[in-house]
Amino acid sequence: MASSVSRGPKLTNLLLCCFIGIFIPFTLASHHGPSGVSDDPKMESRAKPTQPKRVLCGYGIDLDAVSLWANTGDGTSANPSDISRGIYGATVGVDRVLSFLDRHHIKATCGLHGFTHEHMSALNASQEEEILSVSLDKLSKFLGKKPSGWTAPAWTPSPHTVQLLEKYGLEYDHSFMHHDSQMYKLPYVPTVKATDVTKSPSTWMQPMSELRASSIVEIPANWHLDDWPAFNVGNGGNGYIDTDLIFKMWTEQFDFYYQEYDSFVFPITIHPQVSGKPHVLRMHERLLKHINSYEGVEWMTMVEMSNLYKSGQIPGHVVEGGAAL
Ligand SMILES: *[C@@H]1O[C@H](CO)[C@@H](O)[C@H](O)[C@H]1NC(C)=O
Ligand SMILES: [Zn+2]
Repeated sequence: MASSVSRGPKLTNLLLCCFIGIFIPFTLASHHGPSGVSDDPKMESRAKPTQPKRVLCGYGIDLDAVSLWANTGDGTSANPSDISRGIYGATVGVDRVLSFLDRHHIKATCGLHGFTHEHMSALNASQEEEILSVSLDKLSKFLGKKPSGWTAPAWTPSPHTVQLLEKYGLEYDHSFMHHDSQMYKLPYVPTVKATDVTKSPSTWMQPMSELRASSIVEIPANWHLDDWPAFNVGNGGNGYIDTDLIFKMWTEQFDFYYQEYDSFVFPITIHPQVSGKPHVLRMHERLLKHINSYEGVEWMTMVEMSNLYKSGQIPGHVVEGGAAL
């Protein structure tokens, strides 16, 4: 997509129809941070990495807009004030996030995220497939190309999700948490027996089924690297957390990975209706300054991360576990 993609009337209409949360396509250049020399004594390790580092950073933008508020979960009608927050996200929030990313020459991502932010875990396989099929078709028409990835709304995939992503030819997923900073082949969802204390223990004392890798690349989701829980008011968010605290939580994670690994991914999940707020955007400015002071940092989209992993240019993690039943 062209640089400086702005929210045109088409995008606005799309979002006001509540049909989808997308990742916004962005500018073309990836950013290589300057070599890091800090006068902060806690940061001295970053001045001279013992190995060349490769750090794949990216913003995944869940443009939930109105969809998230339209889905009240029980068929009751949405609060009109909440709907206005969604419209704010699709307009004011998107504009601010776009200009922030554009200013830093960061290219963000484009992916599928449900139709009205459905929790896939609450649906059966045919309902989930209908949503995926229709939203894939609509988003492909809007973008002029097929999206490469999927993020389960509210990070609630179902036991059928992985097979459906394969069936519809997607490359990557960003909904699971088997690791927090390494890509891996996403396993199919294992069978786990629910603990039902009204029954005999023998009915639930069974091991989890064996994990088997799918063809989908996982770019790990991470609740501790998401703006929603900290800053959104209501609907799973705490609302009033000090940005300094979250800045610290996010940079502590980054610093730890930088110390531990020669290469890692740092996918940040944001929502324009949350990160478009002034105090949160200012925190992102500080975050970029911190991250870009390290050597080996590259900003890219999730499909670019996935391609580097698939072509063997960046290593990943192997998820294993469970028992053959
Ligand atoms: C899925 O749920 C819908 C709505 O309840 C129902 O009409 C459909 O028959 C169900 N499909 C399957 C395969 O269970
Ligand atoms: Zn969402």
